[in-house]
Amino acid sequence: MQSSKTKFNLISGLAMTKGVESLKRHAHNLKGIFAEAQMLDAIIKKNDPLIYEFYDLGVEEKPGNLAYGTSIVYPGVVGKEFYMTKGHFHTVLDTAEVYFCLSGHGLMLMENPEGETEIQELTAGEAVLVPGRYAHRSINISDSEPLVTFFTFAADAGHDYGTIEQKGFRKLVLRTGKETYEVVDNPHWKSL
Ligand SMILES: [Fe+2]
Repeated sequence: MQSSKTKFNLISGLAMTKGVESLKRHAHNLKGIFAEAQMLDAIIKKNDPLIYEFYDLGVEEKPGNLAYGTSIVYPGVVGKEFYMTKGHFHTVLDTAEVYFCLSGHGLMLMENPEGETEIQELTAGEAVLVPGRYAHRSINISDSEPLVTFFTFAADAGHDYGTIEQKGFRKLVLRTGKETYEVVDNPHWKSL
C-alpha cells in the first residue's frame, strides 16, 4: 500500500515534515505573467523576491488518488497587480479542485475556455470549489499577510500551464487601495 503523511504549519502553510520541500516561484520565474513587464523586470533587478511557493508531494498520478498540498502567495504588487500564481487549467480539463483558506485574504480567479469568469474571495476558514473546466489563479490582496491555502484535486488531473502562459487570463485584478481591487479586461489577452 502506498501512503504518505505530511504535516503543515496552519499559519505559514509550510510543511513541517522532514525532507518535504516546496517549489518556489521568484519574480524571474513569472515573466509574461504580469501585465506590467517593465515593473517586473525592475523588481527582478532589485531583489528578485519570492512571489509564491507550493508543494507537489508526488502522489502517484493515477485514477482514485488525491493530490494535496499548500500554496503560499506572499504580499506585494507588480505595478497595479497583486502578487499571484501563474494559474493553470488541468490537463484533464473537467477536473475540479478544492482550495481551503488557512490564513490571509485573497481571491480565486477562474475562467473556462468559453470565457466565463468567476472570482471568489478567500479568508481564513473559507473553502472554494474550482469547478472542472476552469483555469484558476490565487491572488493575494493583503498588503501584509501571506495568502495560505490548502488544496486537493484528483491526482491524475495533470497541469496545463502553457495555455495561460500563451494567452493570459481574460481579466486582470488591479489594486485600488488597501485590500480593494477592480477587475478589468486584460488588454494583452490573446484568443489564439
Ligand atoms: Fe489546479
